Amino acid sequence: ERTLGIAVLGLGNVGSEVVRLLTAHADELQARVGARLEIKGIAVRNVSPDRGVPVELLTDDPAALVSRDDVDIVVEVFGGIEPVRTLILNALNSGKSVVTANKALLADYTGELAAVADAADLDLYFEAAVAGAIPVVRPLMQSLAGDRVKRVVGIVNGTTNFILSAMGETGADYAETLAEASRLGYAEADPTADVEGFDAAAKAAILASIAFHTRVTASDVYREGISEISAEDLASAADLDCTIKLLAICERVTDDTGRERVSARVYPALLPNVHPLSAVNGAFNAVVVEAEAAGRLMFYGQGAGGAPTASAVLGDLVSAARNKVHGGKGPDESTYAKLPVMSIGDT
Ligand code: HSE
Repeated sequence: ERTLGIAVLGLGNVGSEVVRLLTAHADELQARVGARLEIKGIAVRNVSPDRGVPVELLTDDPAALVSRDDVDIVVEVFGGIEPVRTLILNALNSGKSVVTANKALLADYTGELAAVADAADLDLYFEAAVAGAIPVVRPLMQSLAGDRVKRVVGIVNGTTNFILSAMGETGADYAETLAEASRLGYAEADPTADVEGFDAAAKAAILASIAFHTRVTASDVYREGISEISAEDLASAADLDCTIKLLAICERVTDDTGRERVSARVYPALLPNVHPLSAVNGAFNAVVVEAEAAGRLMFYGQGAGGAPTASAVLGDLVSAARNKVHGGKGPDESTYAKLPVMSIGDT
């Protein structure tokens, strides 16, 4: 009976849930994959016996874990750029497929990582990096691969949507609502990334890259956060039959010279109540995709939190594991068309 070794990097909200689901559903996953998924180790910053997992699985040496011969797939839910970028490159260079939820890393390094994965014929999956449980990466990279995407507009940060919804509904206090979002496991370790739009901008960069087959990095994305929005602003919006949502907008635009470019931007937008995104409240996310032939598609669901994000990680893990067992590989993204990138600041 075949076994695939899994290394898990990180044991926070998402990592704990990934480990729990892998353990609880081991038999079912084995039947789906055709091999047993066995956790070989879990990298954490501080090894201690009270982490809720067998202590012998824990290690504070992720580099050693990633390079083990009995590890086939690396699941990265640490977050941050280094040392994670190096760890992922080492994993790919030593024959391991990688599943990651790391939006900040992907926002800047999707092209580099995908090129290494493609050259090594390995999978690099990252459904969990954008909009948690909602399948949006895979539809853009696979289902819509034959179409031409024109625009992607989404609410892709649960924390800020939770805050704006609460402020709009009850006039709730900004700081209190933010603390609640942290308690519920939605907010980033440093919630500045949420409220100032950095998290949404990273997701916009990933969405724009895969939707338009180009390379957009976080610094290409025009960005404004919600820290200047008050309950009074939301009340004024309501008087106009509108609401305020932090939107990520990625679209093809044609510049003055007639050349097609990509524009990506994140800002709090006044949205009419008749717009389908205006009904997306709480920590929910939604992404509307407009494609030439498909028309308008909407993806909606839980975009933050341990369990929903772990669902996306597990889906990727099953795909990567199936490819290890049966051969095959995820979508090849090393062939980006390199459309020029233009943020709204350039217009
Ligand atoms: N902090 C993020 C959010 C987590 O609030 O949406 C999911 O990426």
